[in-house]
Amino acid sequence: MDEMLSGGFPEGHIVLLSGNTGTGKTTFGMQFLVEGMKRDEPALFVNLEEPTPQVKKTAEAHNWDFEDYEKRGLLRFVTPNLVDTYPDRFLHKVKNAADETNADRMVIDSVSSIPSAEMDVNDLRELFVELNSILKARGITCIATHLARPMFSENPSSIFGPTRASNSRLSSLTDGIILLRYIEKENEINKTINVLKMRGSKHSKKIREFDITEEGVEIGESLAKINRAT
Ligand SMILES: Nc1ncnc2c1ncn2[C@@H]1O[C@H](COP(=O)(O)OP(=O)(O)OP(=O)(O)O)[C@@H](O)[C@H]1O
Ligand SMILES: [Mg+2]
Repeated sequence: MDEMLSGGFPEGHIVLLSGNTGTGKTTFGMQFLVEGMKRDEPALFVNLEEPTPQVKKTAEAHNWDFEDYEKRGLLRFVTPNLVDTYPDRFLHKVKNAADETNADRMVIDSVSSIPSAEMDVNDLRELFVELNSILKARGITCIATHLARPMFSENPSSIFGPTRASNSRLSSLTDGIILLRYIEKENEINKTINVLKMRGSKHSKKIREFDITEEGVEIGESLAKINRAT
């Protein structure tokens, strides 16, 4: 990933990690935090999707000891109740946690869960603007996962389908976009990753295959030929 990004995510960036269900968004996010925590960089996991014990269990399968990181004060789970959460209450919670932990890295899993009875897409946009200033002021680098709806395209290698998934115009509010996609290859469903945009970075334009193993996200060769992307 560092190679694809010529050195990694620029500090203070919000990066949208967009992909269909099961492409590995949560795993990617967890690994991003783990790589920081190994270097004693405190992390926030804004957990809006899975119960926290389940996240910890998944981490365990990759030999990432989230319990231990939590005990050592390197990891904090933030779990806003989305049913009655207004944008300012959500931001207040995140800001407090960021200040208390002195976080360097953050994952929001996932922003697709945020629009609710109390928060529509416009509120989400506003929330992102506010979040941006909170993160930039503190130098926190953030991955926000995003559930891209399955979109089959006439043109198998088209990337316009998945990018259209960010139809709440979130894409222009983020500093970077990474796409995770399924491809069909020799009777197997494999996954690809590519950097669609990364402000201020000379990033790779290549589409690479990747896999999720016990070690986490493993990025492989660039793709010679795509059969079908979703
Ligand atoms: N320990 C493991 N070893 C190998 N592969 C794993 C392991 N754990 C998970 N996976 C793979 O990762 C996939 C799920 O990854 P993850 O939960 O990160 O996806 P996601 O994009 O967050 O999905 P969702 O949209 O449902 O939240 C599984 O479907 C499985 O293929
Ligand atoms: Mg997930």
